[in-house]
Amino acid sequence: MDTPTLHRYEQLAELILGMIENGALAPGMRLPSVRTVSEQHGISVSTVLQAFRMLEDRGVLVARPQSGFYVAAARSGALALPSTSRASTKASTVSISGAVAALIEHASNPALVPLGCAVPDADLLQSTRLDSALARAARQHGSRYNVYCPPRGEPRLRREIAKRAMRFGHALSPDDVLVTGGCTEALTLALGAVAGPGDTVAIESPTYMGLLHTLEVLGLKAFELPTDPQHGIDVDALARLLEREPVAACVLSSSFNNPLGSTMAEAGKRSLLALLARHAVPLIEDDVYGDIYFSRERPKPFIALDGGANTIYCSSFSKSLAPGYRVGWIAAGAYAKPVLERKLAFSLCCAVLPQVAIADFLETGAYEAHLRGIRRMFAENVARMTRAIEASFPAETKVSRPAGGFFLWLELPKHFDSRALFDKALEQGICFVPGDVFSASRRFRNCLRLSAAHVWDDRIEDGVRRLGRLAQALLAC
Ligand SMILES: Cc1ncc(COP(=O)(O)O)c(C=O)c1O
Repeated sequence: MDTPTLHRYEQLAELILGMIENGALAPGMRLPSVRTVSEQHGISVSTVLQAFRMLEDRGVLVARPQSGFYVAAARSGALALPSTSRASTKASTVSISGAVAALIEHASNPALVPLGCAVPDADLLQSTRLDSALARAARQHGSRYNVYCPPRGEPRLRREIAKRAMRFGHALSPDDVLVTGGCTEALTLALGAVAGPGDTVAIESPTYMGLLHTLEVLGLKAFELPTDPQHGIDVDALARLLEREPVAACVLSSSFNNPLGSTMAEAGKRSLLALLARHAVPLIEDDVYGDIYFSRERPKPFIALDGGANTIYCSSFSKSLAPGYRVGWIAAGAYAKPVLERKLAFSLCCAVLPQVAIADFLETGAYEAHLRGIRRMFAENVARMTRAIEASFPAETKVSRPAGGFFLWLELPKHFDSRALFDKALEQGICFVPGDVFSASRRFRNCLRLSAAHVWDDRIEDGVRRLGRLAQALLAC
C-alpha cells in the first residue's frame, strides 16, 4: 500500500479534509483559530497556517480578514459535469495522424501559454538530480553503459519498478518487467501482441489521442465505449459489444484517464475484469497517471485486482519524473513472449544511461517525497484552473472534476466549435487541445482539454481567463 510519511501540515490538512468529508465540519463553519489548533495539536503556528493556506489554494477553505478560516460553501456557481459520452454504433477506422503531429508541434512551442501540454513543467520535475545522476553514470562508467543492455532492460531499474508495484498491492518480479521507450512503446507492443490489422479494440471515449494514433498505425479499429466523466466506462455497453462481435482487446486507463480524469471504482473494475475473462479478451491498461492522485490512496490498477491473469500493464515515468528520458515499462504476463519478440524486432533494447539515472534516483528513496510534492501542486493547479474557468467561460460550460492527473475537460453547448476557438487562441498566443482529437469518430468538437501541469503564475491564470472570454465571444456569434 502507498502510505508515505506525510509532513505535519499535510497530516493536519488530511484531518481537516476527513472532517469535512464525514460532516463534522460543514460548509460555512469557522475553523478554530490558528493558535488554538497549534496548541491542541502541539504543532507550530506556521505549520497550521501552511495547512490552512494549502486548503485555501485548493478551494476547500476560505480566509476572511480579521475573522479566520471557514469551510468553503458548496459553490452555487460551480459548473456541471460533462455528459457521459454516447456508445459507438460500430467500430471505426482511425484517421488522426496529421492532427496529432500538428498539435504536438503547437503544444511544445514555448512562446504559447501552455494549456495544451501533456507533460509537467520541467521546473516541477527532478531535472537537476537526474542530470547529475546521468552525468555521474556517464563519467564513472560510460564505457560500461555504451553497450546493448539485457533485452528486458537494466536489471536495477526493473527491480525498482517491481518494488514499486508492491505499493499498489501487486507482486511483480523484476523478470516480469520489460523496459520500453515510454508508455507509448509499451502500448504499441501490447496491441501488436494481441491484435492484428482489421481487428476491433474497445476504448474509452474520449480517450488519449496518442492511443488513437497507435491504433491507426497498427490498422486497428476502435469501438468507443460510453464513458462517465467520473466513473469511467459503461461495463454494460462493453458486455453488449462482446455478445455481438469479436473484440481483440480492451484498452483502458487504470486511473485518471486522459482527458476526463475519470477512474472506475474497484467494484466496477472487478466486474469488468470478470466480463473480459469470460470472453477471453485481454485488458491492456495504461497507468501513467496512477501515482498522481489527490486523495489519500492510490487507486488500484486492474493488474492488482486480477493478479495479472488477463491484464497487460503499461506505464512510464513521463508524467511524474522524466518525459524526455523516454523510460516506460510493460508487465505483459501471459503475453510476455510475443511482447519481448516485438521489442527485439523493433528496437532491440532501450538506451542504458537514462535507465541507470532513473534507477539511481529511485534507489535514493527520494521519489516518494517528489511525488507528494507534485500531487499537491497538481491538485492546487486543478482547483485554481477550475476557479478561473468558472469565472471566465460561458455559464453553460461543463467541466470535469478529476481526482488525479492534471487535465480538465470542458464541454460547451453542441454547436460550439473548439477548432474555431483553437485558431483564435493561437492568434492570441494560447495553446490548448480541441476535443475532436480524443475520438476515433472525431466527436467532441464542442469540447476542449486544458492542462494544469505548469507552475501556476499570472501568465497561466490570464491565459485561461482570456480563453474563457474568447469562448464567450464565439458562443455569442
Ligand atoms: C494516457 C497516456 N498514455 C500514454 C502517454 C504517453 O506516455 P509516454 O510519454 O510515456 O510515452 C500519454 C501522454 O500524454 C498519456 O496521456
